This record gives sequence, structure tokens and C-alpha cells, in this order.
Amino acid sequence: MKVLIVGGGGREHTLAWKIGQSSKVERIYVSPGNAGTSRIARSVSIEPTDIDALVDFACKEGVDLTVVGPEAPLVKGIVDRFEKDGLMIFGPSKRAAQIEGSKVFAKELMRKYDIPTPNFEVFESPNEAIEYIEAKGAPIVVKADGLAAGKGSIIAMEVEEAVKAVETIMVHRIFGDSGNKVIVEDYIEGEEATITALTDGNTVVTLASSQDHKRIFDDDRGPNTGGMGAYAPAPVITRELSEQITQRIVTPTINAMEAEGIPYKGVLYAGLMVTNDGPQVLEFNCRFGDPESQVVLPLLRADLLDLLIAISDGRLDEVGCEVDTRAAVCVVIASGGYPGSYEKGKEISGLDQAEELEGVVVFHAGTKTERDKILTNGGRVLGVTAIGKDITTAIDRAYEAVRRISFEGMHYRQDIGYKALKRLQEG
Ligand code: GLY
Repeated sequence: MKVLIVGGGGREHTLAWKIGQSSKVERIYVSPGNAGTSRIARSVSIEPTDIDALVDFACKEGVDLTVVGPEAPLVKGIVDRFEKDGLMIFGPSKRAAQIEGSKVFAKELMRKYDIPTPNFEVFESPNEAIEYIEAKGAPIVVKADGLAAGKGSIIAMEVEEAVKAVETIMVHRIFGDSGNKVIVEDYIEGEEATITALTDGNTVVTLASSQDHKRIFDDDRGPNTGGMGAYAPAPVITRELSEQITQRIVTPTINAMEAEGIPYKGVLYAGLMVTNDGPQVLEFNCRFGDPESQVVLPLLRADLLDLLIAISDGRLDEVGCEVDTRAAVCVVIASGGYPGSYEKGKEISGLDQAEELEGVVVFHAGTKTERDKILTNGGRVLGVTAIGKDITTAIDRAYEAVRRISFEGMHYRQDIGYKALKRLQEG
């Protein structure tokens, strides 16, 4: 089979790596890809949101299956467009992708179908949002309705900060039309974790639970990033909790979409807060997480291509989805200055030496090849992933690999996975 993967980050390198393990694969294309994907697949220089060009390419090359990494093309309707042309594609339709594309849609769906999520109000006027915030007090959460490259949720510890967030989103419109509406949500405490589910609209299977590290510095300090590392499974999600999440959150959400006349197929990423009162949904995404995919997919024992085809054909019930019980840790190496401004074009060394270590794979994100060199080309540069028999082994291996890699200004967190270790030590 010929497979086209849309996107160019660590998640897409992981998808290409995992799909490439299938005996059914004849050729993989990644659009636009990066230096890592170009070693295992053909790079295609089409941007992920240039849907017409992607359709033309898939037709011309006889692509059998297209797999979409990022949310923007899904929300823009890439699946509908491919299916209209009779092309097989993995992901939700444009209407179904609203579950990520509109936080108002997702929150109202959860309210209507009694899916646990923090209490909220929706505002179309900044003044009304600010009045509500002043009456409620802080801490409080402000969220832009639409896509905002992971920057649209602000946890405000003070009223002034929440007011500023409303003004930035609705008055200064830094996210454009994504800020036409805001959600003001109750702040809740607990531990965050992610469940990644695959569904064809009827059957639901869940992959390993995981936990992201969103802040740039150790101990969850500093500004938010796209994610500085992840581990799986997350011990905060016990077996009992996992069942509860399937019964109370994932399956009801898929059923709710069906009941709304918007069947959902693809990945459902549930970003959860595990509270003393049980799990609550903070957000849904309509795609694999990044960097969560770098730990969840290596722990998938099944042939991913078989799963994706079965989902596209609506027969997920016929395919097994065994998950490895070992642990995986991904440490993201970023450019100096990220998530603020940073320089590109720094030569990366030590990649082969890192991958010589047992259980280690280096997934590329912001990298490019120039002549024979691999250079930095983005904020998040690499996701160094290690599998081990337990989380301690995986952490040790991942950091040993990280220490073999170098480029000018590189930065990484030193504490990926330590929350899991602490929880396991405390029993
Ligand atoms: N790591 C968070 C996300 O993929 O949205």
C-alpha cells in the first residue's frame, strides 16, 4: 500500500515509523515531513492545509490511505474532500472535527450528554465575560473558542490575568476569528492525563494512557509549550479509572456525536483532569497528541496500518489492539529561547550514537537536511523516546540518549517522568 502522512512534526515521524513496520506498506510519503521522516519516507513539499494539492498528489501517485497528523486540515475539511473524491483517509469529518475546532461545541456537547467537565459559560461579548469573571473571582480559566495553536487556554490565578486574557482574545484578537467567543470555565485541581482512543464510530479501543509536560522548565514552571516530553502509561490512570473513563467519557462522547447526526471516526484524544471527584474532561482533540504519540504509538503492539484501515472501513471490531505493558518516555529537545523566539539552522550531532542505545528511537520534529547535515528547523527539534521494562529504565535510557545529542543552545527538561516515579514510589 502507498500511505501519505500529512504533517511534519514529531507525531508524523512517529506515525511514519510505526506504519512503516507494517508488511503491507509499499511506500510512505510525508507532507511536508522533516529530516527524520526523509530517512524512512519520501518528503512531499505540500503544506498540510493545502487540501487541493494533497488530493491532486494522492490521485496522481495512487495513494491508498492518507493519515492526517495535525488538527488544522481536519477542521478545514480534508476528510470530506478526500472522501468526495473516493480516496481513503483516516480522521474525522469537518463537522466531527469541531470537537477540537470549537471548544463551545465540545463543552455544549458534554453539558447536553452529562459528560463530566468543569462548569462553564460562553460569551460573545468581552464586557459580559469580564463582568462574569469579576463576579466569580480567581482562579479561573479563559479559553478561546477556535484553534489557537495550543495557546488558547489561559489558567488565570488572578482576576486581572483573566480580564487580560479576554481582552487579548476578544479585543486584540490575537487568534483572529478563533476569539469570536470565549469560554470561562471553573478552575479545578488534580493531575492531568491523556487518553487516546481510536474509533470507527461504533467500536472504541483505547491505547496507553499518557502524561504531557506542557511547561518549558522543570517542576512545571515557566510558559506553556507544545509539550516538552511525555510518558506512558500514566500511573494516575489506574485500571479501574481507565474503565471509568471509557464508560463515562469516551463511549458516551462517541454515542453523543452519533446522536447529534455527526458520526465520529478517527482518534479521540481526551485531555483529562483526574480530581478527587473522578476524571473531568479539559479538552478533546481530534488527532494524536504531540508529544504523546511518541510514547503511545511505540507501545502499540498491533499493526497500526491494519487498525487505520479497519477504522476507515468501519470494522474496528475485527482487529485486535494489544498494548505493550512496558513503559515509554519521550524527552523533547528544544531550540534555545523556545517557546519565545529562537534561531534555526544549528547543526545537530550525536543522533546515530543516541539510537545505538537499546530501546531508543529519536523522533524528529523541527529538523531539516542540508547537504549531509541535519539542522534545527523549529522550536521543538527532537523527541528522544526510550522504552524500558519500567518507567525508571525508560527514563534512564531516554536521558542517556539525550546526553549523546548536541546542538548550540539546546534545551530540555530534566524531570520528564518523575511525577510517575513519585506516584509509584508512594504506592
Ligand atoms: N500535547 C498536547 C496536544 O497534543 O494537544
